[in-house]
Amino acid sequence: MMTNEDQFQLATYKKMPIAAERGEGVWIYTGDGDKYLDLYGGHAVAGTGHCHPHVVDAIRKQASQLLFYSNLVYSSARARAAEKLVSIAPPRLTKSFFCNSGTEANENAMRMARMATGREQIITFSGGFHGRTADAISATFLGSYRALGKPNVPGHLEAEFGNIESVRALAGDNVAAIMLEPIQSMAGVRMAQPEYYVALRTLCDERGIVLIYDEVQTGVGRTGQWFFAGNHGVVPDIVTLAKALGSGVPVGACLVTDAIASHIKENDLGTTFGGGMLAMAAVTATLEAIEQDRMLENVRRVEAYLRSRLREVEQVEAVHGLGFLLGIEFKETAATVHQRLLERKIITGTSSNPRVLRLLPPLCLTEEHVDEFVLAADFHG
Ligand SMILES: Cc1ncc(COP(=O)(O)O)c(C=O)c1O
Repeated sequence: MMTNEDQFQLATYKKMPIAAERGEGVWIYTGDGDKYLDLYGGHAVAGTGHCHPHVVDAIRKQASQLLFYSNLVYSSARARAAEKLVSIAPPRLTKSFFCNSGTEANENAMRMARMATGREQIITFSGGFHGRTADAISATFLGSYRALGKPNVPGHLEAEFGNIESVRALAGDNVAAIMLEPIQSMAGVRMAQPEYYVALRTLCDERGIVLIYDEVQTGVGRTGQWFFAGNHGVVPDIVTLAKALGSGVPVGACLVTDAIASHIKENDLGTTFGGGMLAMAAVTATLEAIEQDRMLENVRRVEAYLRSRLREVEQVEAVHGLGFLLGIEFKETAATVHQRLLERKIITGTSSNPRVLRLLPPLCLTEEHVDEFVLAADFHG
C-alpha cells in the first residue's frame, strides 16, 4: 500500500514508514495491528485527539443533513461556529472570516491589513513560517522556503525575532502589518520575552500598524489557553487559525477587531469552501470537546509533569515553548532520539533546529503517556 502511494503521488514529503489506518485519542493504529503513541498530533491537527466521539458524531450528523452550501445563504451551523469561536476569543476580537487552511488565513489577514491601512509592506521574522501560497511564503523567512515562491510578492521585510530595535528600524510609513508566530514552531519552538510582545503592540499603536498573530499552531488550546493572544495583556488586531480548529476537517479562520472589520466590505474576501457546513460542525464540536473534557487544564497540568520528568535528564539542555507546543533541546542532535522513539512506536517531530525535538500531542495526553515517552526515549541509551 505504501508502494502504491509512492507510485501515484508526487514525492514531496519525507514519510515515516507507517500506514495510519485508524486513530483513537492519542493513538494511531496501522493495518498490521501496530499501535503508535502520537506525540506529533498529526502535525498539530489532532488537538482533540484522533476521532473524538463528540466531533465524529457532529460530523456524521451534519453530513447526513447538509454537506455544503456557500456563503450566499445563511446557515445555523455557520452561525453556531462563528459565535462559539468569537465567544472564546479575547473580547477585542469580534468577527470571524472562515477559509480552508493556515496559509489562506494568513493571506487574508495580510490583505485585510493592507485594506485597513492603505499601505503595502508586511514585516515578518527570521524563523517564522506562514504557509506556502505566494504571499505567505514571501512572508516566510525560514531556511530555503521563501525561495520556493520565487518570484516573491514584493513588500515583505525581515526583522529579527525577539529584537524590538530591528523591527523599529523597519517600521516605516508604508508598513501595513507586523505578523508573527508568537511561538516560532518550525524554527525549534522559539519564544520571546514577555516585554517583546508588549513592545510590538506599542510600536503598532504608535505607527498605525496592524498586529497579526499567526496562531495556526498556538491557537485552539495548544498552549493551555484558547489562544496566545491575550498573554501579557497583548491582543493583536488579527489572529489566524487552522490546524486543530476542525480536528482534521480542513478549516482556517481569521479573527479580527471591529476596527479592522470596518474596512472590509462585500466581495473584498471570499472562498467557495470557507464556512461550509461540514467544516463548521467540526469547529463547533472541536471547541465544545475541548471545553467538556477540560483539556486546557489538562494541558497545563501535564505540561508541568513533562517538564518535571525532563528535568531529571542530563542530555536535555532546555525545554522551550508552552503547553503542548514544546521543543526539547538536546546537547547533541535530536535525530537519534526521534529515530529511537519511532522504532519504539512513538511519533515525535523534528524542527529546523537539529538539536530540537518537537512535541505537539493531542490535548488529552496524560501523565501515563508522558511516562511511556520518557521510558521509551531511553535518554541514556
Ligand atoms: C505557524 C503556521 N502558519 C501557517 C501554516 C500553514 O498552514 P497550512 O499548511 O494549513 O496552509 C503552518 C503550517 O505548518 C504553520 O505552522
